[in-house]
Amino acid sequence: MTTILVTGGTGFIGSHTTVALQQAGYHVLILDNLSNSSVQVLDAIATITGTRPEFIQGDIRDAALLDSLFAAQPVSAVLHFAGLKAVGESVAMPLAYYDNNVHGSVQLLQAMQRAQVRTLVFSSSATVYGDPQALPLTEDHPRSATNPYGHTKLVVEDILENLHASEAGWRIARLRYFNPVGAHPSGLIGEAPQGVPNNLMPYVAQVATGQRERVQVFGNDYNTPDGTGVRDYIHVTDLADGHVHALQYCLQARQDLLTVNLGTGVGYSVLDMIRAFEQASGKTIAYDIVGRRTGDIAACWADTELAYEKLGWRARKTIQDMCDDAWRWESK
Ligand code: NAD
Ligand code: UFG
Repeated sequence: MTTILVTGGTGFIGSHTTVALQQAGYHVLILDNLSNSSVQVLDAIATITGTRPEFIQGDIRDAALLDSLFAAQPVSAVLHFAGLKAVGESVAMPLAYYDNNVHGSVQLLQAMQRAQVRTLVFSSSATVYGDPQALPLTEDHPRSATNPYGHTKLVVEDILENLHASEAGWRIARLRYFNPVGAHPSGLIGEAPQGVPNNLMPYVAQVATGQRERVQVFGNDYNTPDGTGVRDYIHVTDLADGHVHALQYCLQARQDLLTVNLGTGVGYSVLDMIRAFEQASGKTIAYDIVGRRTGDIAACWADTELAYEKLGWRARKTIQDMCDDAWRWESK
């Protein structure tokens, strides 16, 4: 069996991608420091797929650990999810973000280079497009960052481009995710943010369960159909499937540097998402319109043609699927 190292594999997107990888016939080895996830995820994955992924609790910044890991078994490729992802926290703690996301990625890449493992799929983000100059966002849209988190993604994207140009043999995919939401349809794995959720959908879900009282809708004076922010929400299992396609592309391609959007190509507003969640949960979601959140953009959705052309992949699930599955997970 082909072994894939999944950094951050007990996290939200990594756990769903581990399921998809196992179901596609890969052997998965997870490396995660459990800073934002729980080891119980491994049991849930085993229940879904029948196989418990191999797991090492450790940090991507631990070079000796990485060397021993690569020495212990042949790894064909690395899917690199590990990192910190909260925009507000990155403004308050920039050094932690540069250390985890940039220094951590460099440590991982150096260990891969030493072990001659040169196939990597990297979790980038639509945040690298900054405030869109035109929609839908194509991969050649100019990049910018308005916060330290976004900056770490820009820097790692650049590092990967430089590395790819410097040495033959690297096969790299930089995947720019739009807004991943939802959960596995089994309800066994999903998004489990610590503390007050930063993102819309986990917050809405917690209002539906009664853990929180009301959603604050950040602005209804944007230039969008109902005035609230519009985003390209993508079901996390579609996203996971996109990773399997990207991995297969890399394993087959000779020496490519692939950069693609993973989104649905359709934008929905905050109020659209609240209504879809009410439908899924049968609960009324109370909300207040408040002022805009600093740094937010009005609207953002992906051009999905390049992903389809290169990977033969498209997202399939609707916002109702996303809300139904998120509700199943949340109500468990
Ligand atoms: P997550 O926090 O659920 O998962 C990240 C995992 O990495 C966690 O399990 C955490 O414990 C682990 N981790 C963090 N730092 C580590 C380190 N130094 N060493 C080892 N493990 C470490 O986040 P997620 O939503 O699954 O995001 C995965 C990746 O996708 C991240 O790189 C994130 O920036 C990127 N991304 C996420 C979104 C989103 O909205 N969720 C959007 C775009 C890009
Ligand atoms: N929103 C609210 N109330 C909330 C939370 C969010 O109204 O409590 C609104 C936001 O203003 C925005 C929309 O809901 O219009 C989505 O907000 P999220 O925080 O869920 O997502 P963002 O689009 O702001 O950012 C997310 C990730 C980023 C990533 C980006 C693109 O948090 O890390 O998607 O992939 F870069």
